[in-house]
Amino acid sequence: MDEWWKKSTVYQIYPRSFMDSNGDGIGDIQGIIQKLDYLNGLGVDILWLSPVYDSPNDDNGYDIRDYYQIMTEFGTMADFDELLSEVHDRGMKLVMDLVVNHTSDEHQWFKNHPDFYIWRDKPTNWRSFFSGSVWEYQKERGQYFLHLFSKKQPDLNWDNPELRKTVYEMMRWWLDKGVDGFRMDVINMISKVSDMHDAPGGDGSHQFLNGPNVHRYLKEMNKEVLSKYDIVTVGETPGTTPKEARDYTAVKNQELNMIFTFEHMGLDQASGEKWDLKPLLLTDLKKNMEKWQHGLHDEGWNSLYWNNHDQPRIVSRFGEDTDWRVESAKMLATCLHFMQGTPYIYQGEELGMTNVHFDSIDDYKDIETLNMYKEKRQAGVPHDDIMQQIQVKSRDNARTPMQWSAEPNGGFTTGTPWLKTNPNYKKINALQHTDPNSVYQYYKKLIGYRKKMDIITHGDFELLYREDGEIFAYTRKWNDEQLTVYCNFSKNIKSAARPEGKLLIGNYTETNAGNDVLLRPYEAMVYYQQ
Ligand code: NOJ
Repeated sequence: MDEWWKKSTVYQIYPRSFMDSNGDGIGDIQGIIQKLDYLNGLGVDILWLSPVYDSPNDDNGYDIRDYYQIMTEFGTMADFDELLSEVHDRGMKLVMDLVVNHTSDEHQWFKNHPDFYIWRDKPTNWRSFFSGSVWEYQKERGQYFLHLFSKKQPDLNWDNPELRKTVYEMMRWWLDKGVDGFRMDVINMISKVSDMHDAPGGDGSHQFLNGPNVHRYLKEMNKEVLSKYDIVTVGETPGTTPKEARDYTAVKNQELNMIFTFEHMGLDQASGEKWDLKPLLLTDLKKNMEKWQHGLHDEGWNSLYWNNHDQPRIVSRFGEDTDWRVESAKMLATCLHFMQGTPYIYQGEELGMTNVHFDSIDDYKDIETLNMYKEKRQAGVPHDDIMQQIQVKSRDNARTPMQWSAEPNGGFTTGTPWLKTNPNYKKINALQHTDPNSVYQYYKKLIGYRKKMDIITHGDFELLYREDGEIFAYTRKWNDEQLTVYCNFSKNIKSAARPEGKLLIGNYTETNAGNDVLLRPYEAMVYYQQ
């Protein structure tokens, strides 16, 4: 029997931008409850909630002040309990975000349990993910504390057994409540080397990514907590190779079920810096995906994603978001959803939502974007150059409110949204979800196939047309069955050999006759042979 999460599709909710039920401009838990039938109708099995815990929101909830309280803007614990039972009543599961690499500096531990954090007399030269140094001086103590992210997100000291015990207790508390698993924020950063030292270019990642004790701690967490429940776990693990992914996810290692790779998300960046833009080469993407499909085929498990709250919208990124928006959104979905692994859909992806283009820096709200803007301006980089990078890569691209209807603000709120709605909501919104040709209905079919067809769960992966820069094609083989997936990532008409079998699904309505298939702009087609 396959574990249930191997045939599941996960839907990620960013609560702040999902649905506002009380007109304060901020999404909330009652808003999510209102939309559960929409999500259930899509066929998704698991909902992952970005953090809903009490937080001063320096990093929109990824800075937790109290793990046992719900953020006031989102509602109350009673709202949460109602959500959990409404989700379960519909046969879906609910996964929480677990952010335990760091807390907020307003967490009471920071004051009452300084030994839960990481202190040094002298700073290293490491740079924070959110610009500036990773070290902040605290006068009272006369020492620096480590913060890989904002200075309001001090890193926890996982080498302290008392901290680990306290975290496990908190995890059990949520699992005992009935939540169905955790998405673990930057979980491969919890173990730092003991002799932290300067690093070339201020990049300290070799001293904190997949660090010396990370596997020991995850095995301990698994033994103390995870193994006692029928749940799903996914670790967010930047800078991780397939070999390391196997270490985290192989069943025999008793750590996590799957991890998020970042490699495919870095293929359109020219250096270690995410703002350093370069066009994607499709051959790079294909070979990277192939590496992960092969690397975790027999051991471990992949998670499959194009989008989340940290990434620009995929249709604007690897697709085409004007003339071919619907076709390319469906094509990208096809390409990903026939691979082996557990797919993740980020809110709005099922509508083909696009990047936003704000002209003023004041319309952006994300701490990463704003800190970077300030730092680059101080270094003399022209405003227009920075804005261009922000428009392409800012996390706010993913965070604009969900577009429910053509009502003001896309029907997300009756008030003023905390982040402006993408003005294209009149054209792109969820009212379309009942249209049989909508992106939503297409995703629904893909989710359905994964549940029904074992070949999607188990089949071997083979890349076709390896060196072609515009077609992404592959087969999946399992016993006597075969799936052939063709995806045209370009506007050009491409010819390819007609696969054996029958057309299972495609993103054009008229069929494609002839001995060869002609792939139209952004066309996707999947053939199935038995
Ligand atoms: C990864 C999360 O996905 C991101 O949104 C957050 O800013 C950092 N971790 C820090 O928690």
